[in-house]
Amino acid sequence: MGVYHHCVFPYLLDLAMGSRVFDQPRRRTLARASGRILEIGFGTGRNLPHYPPGVSRIEAIDPDADLDRFSLPRIAASRVAVDFHHLNAEHLPFEGDSFDTVVCTLTLCSIPDVVHALGEVHRVLKPGGQFLFLEHGLSPDAQVAGWQHRLNPIQQRLGGGCHLVRETLRWWRDRACFCVMPSTIT
Ligand SMILES: C[S@@+](CC[C@H](N)C(=O)[O-])C[C@H]1O[C@@H](n2cnc3c(N)ncnc32)[C@H](O)[C@@H]1O
Repeated sequence: MGVYHHCVFPYLLDLAMGSRVFDQPRRRTLARASGRILEIGFGTGRNLPHYPPGVSRIEAIDPDADLDRFSLPRIAASRVAVDFHHLNAEHLPFEGDSFDTVVCTLTLCSIPDVVHALGEVHRVLKPGGQFLFLEHGLSPDAQVAGWQHRLNPIQQRLGGGCHLVRETLRWWRDRACFCVMPSTIT
């Protein structure tokens, strides 16, 4: 924690997450969102404009209260109603089999105990529910992967715990027991 995390990081995060590069991947990832929806790692609310017109309400969680200065005004201005909670994805207080869709964009890289969090996603999804995620991970290109390993310690310190080298897709394949809509940027 400290001054950087409380005062500087939220601005940098919002700037980075607002990049137009993510617009199309966000729209593509969210296109199938329907029914009762939970977004984990809501961040500064950059997904809100990209929910399809049929979505009028979501529940959302994020543990970082320093992001409220961006997320709360975005929630207030959005056509999508948001029930927002400060929570970790590793411990969701929701009943099992209670969501049709769980959304997670660019967040599996930052969750400390991601295996536990994926278990929670699985638990709260209804049978046949869908997990819509957009993520970056370790590149299959050895040269890129080398740089990812070199830069990972700096990224983790300055990027809010974001890992550049997580093998997110492999974890999914290992526990691919429910409907998945993988979308990965490397
Ligand atoms: C790179 S940001 C992505 C934010 C947003 N999903 C987006 O696409 O713009 C990663 C987010 O993960 C959140 N996060 C970190 N640890 C978490 C946890 N244990 N459970 C849920 N979210 C977490 C951070 O607070 C941050 O908002």
